[in-house]
Amino acid sequence: MEAKDVSSAGDDAALEPSRPRTFIKDIVRGATEELVGRKVVVGGWVKTGREQGKGSFAFLELNDGSCLANLQVIVDAAVHPLTQLVPTGTCVLVEGELKKPPEGAKQNVELKVESVLEVGPVDPAKYPLPKTRLTLEFLRDFGHLRARTNTISAVARIRDELAYATHTFFRKNGFRYVHTPIITTSDCEGAGEMFQVTTLFSDAEKVEKELKQNPRPSESDIEAAKLLVKEKGETVSQLKSSKASKQEISASVSELTKAKESLSRLEERFKLKAGIPQKDGKIDYAHDFFGRQAFLTVSGQLQVETYACALGNVYTFGPTFRAEHSHTSRHLAEFWMVEPEIAFANLEDDMNYAESYVKFLCKWLLDNCLEDMEFMVKNFDKAAIERLKLVSSSPFERISYTKAVQLLKNVTDKKFENEVEWGIDLASEHERYLTEVLFKKPVIVYNYPKGIKAFYMKLNDDQKTVAAMDVLVPKVGELIGGSQREERIDVLVKRITDSGLPLEPYEWYLDLRRFGTVKHSGFGLGFERMILFATGIDNIRDVIPFPRYPGRADL
Ligand code: 4AD
Ligand code: MG
Repeated sequence: MEAKDVSSAGDDAALEPSRPRTFIKDIVRGATEELVGRKVVVGGWVKTGREQGKGSFAFLELNDGSCLANLQVIVDAAVHPLTQLVPTGTCVLVEGELKKPPEGAKQNVELKVESVLEVGPVDPAKYPLPKTRLTLEFLRDFGHLRARTNTISAVARIRDELAYATHTFFRKNGFRYVHTPIITTSDCEGAGEMFQVTTLFSDAEKVEKELKQNPRPSESDIEAAKLLVKEKGETVSQLKSSKASKQEISASVSELTKAKESLSRLEERFKLKAGIPQKDGKIDYAHDFFGRQAFLTVSGQLQVETYACALGNVYTFGPTFRAEHSHTSRHLAEFWMVEPEIAFANLEDDMNYAESYVKFLCKWLLDNCLEDMEFMVKNFDKAAIERLKLVSSSPFERISYTKAVQLLKNVTDKKFENEVEWGIDLASEHERYLTEVLFKKPVIVYNYPKGIKAFYMKLNDDQKTVAAMDVLVPKVGELIGGSQREERIDVLVKRITDSGLPLEPYEWYLDLRRFGTVKHSGFGLGFERMILFATGIDNIRDVIPFPRYPGRADL
């Protein structure tokens, strides 16, 4: 094969795989006149298949995941045994010619198969996802197959577009993407909702198993081994003083070395103890993998701040983990968060960035994902596209927390389960009332009481509130949480200790204020909540490929 010119690596041509195939999206979106008569190879999974004409040919509705639409494929019995092709879920790679379908057909073209190149067969009696309409809840039990359904594949494409839009938005605005750690030793939110990362349990289990198979040596085994080392040592000295041959001496030295090795192995094993190591009645993390307690991150914010205080505008976008026992349709134990951090920015800048980012995402979906969005409108939420249009084109409402509380207290047409009082954390019902009923659009609530917000938020001059902001949207409630950060070291130290947190783990964070402190702000957008908002799907477990929540972590 001829070597390719590396200088062409950056051009627009897509990579040619060993078996070139045409994506169904390029066929169904193409112009009939240009397509008819073209020979193509397509590969995908059969949505529905039926034999026709007394088994002389079959229609297959083929989907390859490149778009929602299926391609109608016609196979003659002479080309391939039809019973093997028609079961739902069958994978086929076929070659054929695109034809004009009969008048009145839904599609612009159909494929007349000339040869079946590959088949991944399905036993229809055993395939768990029959053609009938399945509930999203049912599909959660089939995490490995559910991406083949219309809804989950549409969500996957929307999710991918939102991720791409995210990188596009931040790059356009001069932000650098920073990878923050998944394993961390600092609790960003200080809420104690972290999953612990430890090898202490598996280590203890290994030791226990090992000691069962190969019991710990006794003290007398050790004594005997020590005695052997002593004897072998004496032999070496004797041989040396009696000027024995080099050969004899080196043979006895090697026996001595062996005896020493065996002793140290025995001593090592003698120290093995089953169970979790303890010191002063507490677990001794010095023996743990990292030599200290470690966790899965709840947010990359603290770490990304270190880069904001050097590179200026940065963002992190990665998985975050919270061991909350919330069984709601808005919470996951593992979710993805987009967290920009902006140097030389105050709370107002923060709100401006948040608003402009959410608008950009909505516009992106309208421009790049209309077919999948129309599917959402038809099947999940009539208002989904209207909502994207409205949000991308009109300014968000901005009100202080104090004002929000006033407005909610005056509500007479609804009885809230949680009473509203200045100082409470707004519940989902309050958030949704503000955005869905009162303003009917996204609302940014700012300046929250310090008592309900994290230690890193900037204390306002009133000494009662912090420069925090939450973006609330219809359907979801809280989509974004952010703030201006406390850049004054003395105030920050006090906020940490007042929150009942130890200072030691945050010393590095305090260094950012000790050395070249800067006014800065940032926020976190819950990526799955954004997808809920966009699609109108009800449960957050259906908008992440592999949902993790209390009691479930399949695959
Ligand atoms: O409001 P949160 O807790 O803010 C932070 O973590 C900050 N450190 C962000 C920052 O300033 N860099 O979380 C941010 C967003 C929420 O608004 C919500 O959309 C989402 O993350 N979120 C969850 N999404 C799904 N499941 C959960 N359990 C979530 N908890 C928060
Ligand atoms: Mg929050």
